[in-house]
Amino acid sequence: MASLMLQKNDQEGQATLPSLDHLTMEDYENVYEPSEDTFLLCDALEKDRLMFKDLLPRRALEIGPGSGCVITFFGQLCKEIDVSCSLYATDINNKAVEVTRRTAEANGINVTVSNVDLLGENAPADNSVDVLLFNPPYVPTPSNEVGSDGIEAAWAGGMYGREVIDRFLPALPNMLSRPHGRCYLVLVKENKPIDISQILQAQGFETSITVAKKARNEQLMVMLVTWAEPTDALPPPSSTCEEDAANVGYTSLD
Ligand SMILES: C[S@@+](CC[C@H](N)C(=O)[O-])C[C@H]1O[C@@H](n2cnc3c(N)ncnc32)[C@H](O)[C@@H]1O
Repeated sequence: MASLMLQKNDQEGQATLPSLDHLTMEDYENVYEPSEDTFLLCDALEKDRLMFKDLLPRRALEIGPGSGCVITFFGQLCKEIDVSCSLYATDINNKAVEVTRRTAEANGINVTVSNVDLLGENAPADNSVDVLLFNPPYVPTPSNEVGSDGIEAAWAGGMYGREVIDRFLPALPNMLSRPHGRCYLVLVKENKPIDISQILQAQGFETSITVAKKARNEQLMVMLVTWAEPTDALPPPSSTCEEDAANVGYTSLD
C-alpha cells in the first residue's frame, strides 16, 4: 500500500495513509478494501494540501467511506496543517459504518459516521460542507444489482455505473459551501464524465479532472467540482482535464 500513488513533497510534509492494521480478512468480506481508486482520491486531497491551508475547511463529509481510509486520511492531513475541521461520513453499509469508526479511532481521528443512504433524509441543506468526498459505486452493472446495503454497494452502479451518482448530483448545490466548497468525485470513463460535467455546469459549478490513472481495466479519475463564480480568489485547480487526460495516456473522457 505504501508504494501506491501518494506524491510526496518534502517541503510540504509527508502524506501518510492511515494504518489499517486493525482490519481483518473478515472485515473485507463486508467492506470495500482500499484499492487504486481509494488511493487516487487520497492523491487528489494530498495535491490540494496547500489549498486547504488557505481554505480552512470547517466541515468535511465523505459519502461511502467503506474502510474509512479516505476520511481518516483527510483528518490526518488537516491535523498536519493545523486545520480544525469536523469530519462526517455516511455509508449505506452498516459494516462500513462500524469499520470507519474503528479506522478513525485507531488513527486518533474523530469522525461522526451515520448509516444512511447518501446524505440521509435529515441532511443539512444549508451549504455548510466545505469538502465533500465520494468514491461511489461506479461499475456498470445490471440495474437490479443496485440498492444493496452489503458489499455489492461498493461497486454496483447500474447503467453506465451512474445510478447512484445521478441520485447524488442534485444534492450538491444545497450541500457545498459558497464560494469555496470543493467536491471530489471518483469516476471512470464509462460513467460519461463529460455528461456529468455538463449536469454540474447547469447547476452553477465548474469541473476539472484533478488526478487520473489507468489501473488494470479502469480509467480512473477524480473530478473536482467547485462553484463557477467564487466571490473571492483562491488559486485555480492545478491542472486541467485535458492535461490530466494526456498524462494518463488517453484523450477522451466520455
Ligand atoms: C467504491 S466504495 C468506496 C469506499 C471508500 N470510500 C474507498 O475509497 O475505499 C463505495 C462505498 O459507497 C458506499 N455506498 C454505496 N451506495 C451508497 C449510498 N447510496 N449511500 C451511502 N453509501 C453508499 C458503499 O457501501 C461503499 O462503502
